[in-house]
This record gives sequence, C-alpha cells and structure tokens, in this order.
Amino acid sequence: MDEQDLGRIGVVGGGLMGSGIAEVCARAGLDVVVVERDRSAVEAARRRLEGSLDRAVHRGKLAAEDRDAALAATEIVDDMDALADRDLVVEAVAEDEGVKTEVFTRAGAIVKRPDAIFASNTSSIPIMKLGMATDRPGRVVGMHFFNPVPVLSLVEIVPSLLTEARTRERAEAFVVDVLGKQPVRSQDRAGFVVNALLVPYLLSAVRMMESGFASAEDIDAGMVRGCAHPMGPLALTDLIGLDTTKAIAESMYEEFKEPLYSPPPMLSRMVDAGLLGRKSGRGFYEYAS
Ligand code: NAI
Repeated sequence: MDEQDLGRIGVVGGGLMGSGIAEVCARAGLDVVVVERDRSAVEAARRRLEGSLDRAVHRGKLAAEDRDAALAATEIVDDMDALADRDLVVEAVAEDEGVKTEVFTRAGAIVKRPDAIFASNTSSIPIMKLGMATDRPGRVVGMHFFNPVPVLSLVEIVPSLLTEARTRERAEAFVVDVLGKQPVRSQDRAGFVVNALLVPYLLSAVRMMESGFASAEDIDAGMVRGCAHPMGPLALTDLIGLDTTKAIAESMYEEFKEPLYSPPPMLSRMVDAGLLGRKSGRGFYEYAS
C-alpha cells in the first residue's frame, strides 16, 4: 500500500478523541485539518493538542522539534469546506446519531476525491446508518480508536454491509503501516468488540455503587489490586466521559434491548448535573483543572 494513498487527513470534532486522532496523524508526518464547530471549540481543541504534545515531550516520548512539526502540520478550523481536498476524513463528534449523520452528509458533499475514505470513530452507532447518510456508503467504514489515542495501540475496523472490501483494506493498511497501530475487525453491531464487553462491566460498577454495595474507591481498588487492571471501572468511566458512556449504553440498549446495557439512573443524573468525569473536572472523582 502506498503510504501517500491517504496523506491528507480531515478530523471532524477536536474533543478528547478527535484531538488524539489528529495528534497521531500529525506525528506520523501527515497533513491534518481538524474541523470544530465554532471559534471557541477551535481554541479548546488547539489547547488539547498542545497540552498532549507538551506532555509527550515532558515524558521524553517526543523530541521538541517533532512536537513543533506536528503542530505546524495541523490546521484547526471551524469550516467544513476545509475538507474538500482530503483523502481520509475521520469523524469524531459527540456520540449522537443526528449530529453524526449530518456531518457525514455534509462531508460527502464537500470532499472531492471520489475514492476518499470516510471513517467514523463512533463507539456504538451503526456504520450502516452513517454510510447511508452519504452518497457513497461503499467508502464509509468504522475506525474506532481508544483513549488516550497516542498511547493505546488498538483500532477496531468496522465495515458495514455496504463497505467495499477495498475501503476496508485501505483503512487497515493506514492503521498498520502509517499509524503503527493494531487493528481488530468487528461486525457492524452496536458496541463492536470492546465496548460490547466493557460497557456492561462499567454499568455494573455504577449500579454497585448506586445500591450502596461498596464505595467508588473500594470498587476501583478491587479491580486494580485484585485483577491487575490498570484502573478501576469508575475511574475509567471518568476517563471515557460519563456522557459518552451513557450515549454508548443507550445505543447498545436500543440495538439489543438487554437490561444490562441500560444506563443506570445514577449515571443519567450525573450527566444531567454536568458531572462528566475528567473533562468537566468532576465525575465519580474530582480532578484538578
Ligand atoms: P468530546 O465531547 O470530547 O468531543 C466531541 C467534539 O465534537 C467536541 O469538541 C465538539 O465541539 C465537537 N463537535 C460537535 N459537533 C460538531 C460538529 N457538527 N462539527 C465539528 N465538531 C463538532 O467527545 P469524545 O470523547 O472525543 O468522543 C467523540 C467520539 O469518539 C464519540 O463518537 C465517542 O463515542 C467516540 N469515542 C470516545 C472514546 C472515549 O473514551 N471518550 C473512546 C473511543 C471512541
């Protein structure tokens, strides 16, 4: 596969995941455009990207000149028209089907290259629905990264019923050869492989705390010290974002109608209260800003 096949990357949404996806693309030497919804979101995305690159330099994982090169290779704008010359667009806006389908419809109309690839970082929304929102469902594929993107090597590749084999092959080659990550393939089912297993576990931890069975600290300590997990389920829910966890659970519940996927009331009330986890400064734990 020619590495330059997908050399111009568009990322829609520069939040937790979009900024991480932009970072790994820029660090791989690609030309990156991030589209956010307005000027203040553009500034927030820039701060997120700079903060992450600075941390990588601080930890000795990245040379200062490579940080500068990655920043210079990344343009952050609030105008979808900037996607016109892109080879690959990765959508990473909030986990909301309406917002995502609108992004796909618009991107499909803007991107000029006929065999450009449209990828979604969705955790749980069917790729088929996103593909059908475009004029070219054969070029739409799930490309599901993990948080933090610069650290975790897995990417789930999710073809829909209409994704062309060539699109899937190019997406996998990009992930392996260009980003140096490891793909696994999943059917287009809400949650794919990892969240289908992970989300019921996270929701069980919330229910356990909600019912007074054990404290958040003890639940997390149990899984860290007893099962050698790098972090406990409630700390992980804070890292993912409580809003995102709830949205993923709702899509999975909608798909399978299994009670174990249904978001517990405690999770919904915390989201209502704006307690979204690390990104808002408070979730099951408090975080210094
Ligand atoms: P986030 O809330 O941090 O970021 C979403 C970003 O999208 C925000 O910056 C928002 O301003 C922007 N946005 C919303 N509408 C937009 C539009 N129309 N055009 C441009 N930008 C727009 O959410 P996060 O966590 O980055 O999640 C994004 C996607 O990644 C979701 O589909 C989520 O399910 C998925 N994901 C999340 C993971 C996590 O651990 N948080 C892990 C893997 C996937």
